[in-house]
Amino acid sequence: MNKKIIVAICGASGSIYGIRLLKALLNKPVNIYLIISNAGLEILKYENGYSGKDFTSFLKDKGVVTHKDAGLNIYEQNDLFAPPASGSFRHDGMVIAPCSMKTLAAIASGMADNLIHRAADVSLKEKRPLILLPRETPLSIIHIKNMHKAAMSGATIMPPSPSFYFNPKTISDLVDTVIARVLDHLKIEQDLVKEWG
Ligand SMILES: Cc1cc2nc3c(=O)[nH]c(=O)nc-3n(C[C@H](O)[C@H](O)[C@H](O)COP(=O)(O)O)c2cc1C
Repeated sequence: MNKKIIVAICGASGSIYGIRLLKALLNKPVNIYLIISNAGLEILKYENGYSGKDFTSFLKDKGVVTHKDAGLNIYEQNDLFAPPASGSFRHDGMVIAPCSMKTLAAIASGMADNLIHRAADVSLKEKRPLILLPRETPLSIIHIKNMHKAAMSGATIMPPSPSFYFNPKTISDLVDTVIARVLDHLKIEQDLVKEWG
């Protein structure tokens, strides 16, 4: 059976991480449940030239090739009736890429007032993988405490800090060093970055 992965894109800088993750996942027989926050949509427009219209065509323009058995379901942040809002929805992991400090704070405090917060809250209570790519610098003590709280509740905190030891040539190469680690944690085979050694 296809893996089911929830992907959320928040309004932090670095929505390219979300796009590259979708590119990697859609190339495989995976069912994706995508939630983009309102701020995330604005950053996608600002940083990545998204028109705000057909998201699938936008992904195609970004070079995304979809596997014949892949599925992409897109939900708005206010759609609290969507499958990821319920603990009865069995998925194989949720990734928030990038994750804003606001969404991190909501997750750390259990304040589930949109679909991203709720799906993350449900992932934690159901002990399903939750991977956060928090993007901010420098970090305040509040941010660090929120990461600590989320990690103590079971989330994986994976700051999008690209690695340079594979001599990346492009921004996409750099971003993929982060996405490769996300896929490793989701237990999804990846050929973006070779295993060291
Ligand atoms: C251009 C731009 C860049 C931003 N970058 C960040 C960022 O890197 N990290 C962050 O936590 N918030 C950032 N923000 C602020 C968030 O968009 C804002 O806190 C928003 O309410 C987050 O909402 P969301 O978590 O629902 O997506 C940025 C805002 C703008 C306009």
